Amino acid sequence: MNAVLVVGATGTVGGLAARALHRQGASVALAGRNAERLADRSRLPGDCPRRVFDAYDLDGCAALAPWAVRSLGRLDRVVVAVGVAGFGRAESVDEAAAEHLMTVNALAPMAVVRGALPVLEAGGAIGVVTGSVVDAPPQGMADYAAAKTALATWLGVVGREQRARGVRIVDVRLPHLEGGFTARAVTGEPPRLPPGADPAAEVERHLLAPLTDAPGRPHRASPGLLGAPQA
Ligand SMILES: NC(=O)c1ccc[n+]([C@@H]2O[C@H](COP(=O)([O-])OP(=O)(O)OC[C@H]3O[C@@H](n4cnc5c(N)ncnc54)[C@H](OP(=O)(O)O)[C@@H]3O)[C@@H](O)[C@H]2O)c1
Repeated sequence: MNAVLVVGATGTVGGLAARALHRQGASVALAGRNAERLADRSRLPGDCPRRVFDAYDLDGCAALAPWAVRSLGRLDRVVVAVGVAGFGRAESVDEAAAEHLMTVNALAPMAVVRGALPVLEAGGAIGVVTGSVVDAPPQGMADYAAAKTALATWLGVVGREQRARGVRIVDVRLPHLEGGFTARAVTGEPPRLPPGADPAAEVERHLLAPLTDAPGRPHRASPGLLGAPQA
């Protein structure tokens, strides 16, 4: 794995992935929403190229991979770990929050991938974090689960489209993790959740390992979406 773009490098998952890849000797380009957080939270040397973007700027999302090619000289892998949670019954989610959830969790990752496809060559791979909500969407998370499911469906089709040219798309369906993701929800309050899984172990097993081997299918973590009740 030589040259990697990590989108969402300020987050728990993106930060862990970026640091692990850097330790393994990869050249890592970092993209995040906020320059200061990108410098602080990535905890990576200042010579790693950095770029600020916002999920609502879809053209800016699509421009990230071409920027990474210019910055690193090549691009072999892309990690997309952008997302935001949202909770509440459907009637309690206002339209601005619904739009936010769909934009950050579906449209922005799709734009990043769309921009990356033309610049990746055979042997390239893209890992995109969706979530175990795709397999078991709980009540009280309709908008978040719908956005992740839209993304997962899109990734499945794109993966089939890209197979013949040797570019792999990995749909990473992580379970609920420790790290405070649910507390940063854009709307509503999370249900009472059991302790989350260890983020470092899950990132290694379900994101980094599949990017180096060759499963073309969704990479499902242990069952239980965000640990929420399934009723
Ligand atoms: N943690 C879990 O329990 C869990 C479980 C299953 C799936 N996932 C998925 O895993 C991915 C990473 O989650 P995480 O735990 O690492 O969450 P996190 O720590 O909250 O990180 C989320 C990342 O998304 C970025 N982001 C949020 N809104 C954005 C916007 N409008 N524009 C640009 N970037 C934006 C954040 O940037 P800032 O740092 O600037 O806010 C951060 O880099 C997400 O897709 C999430 O849905 C998480």
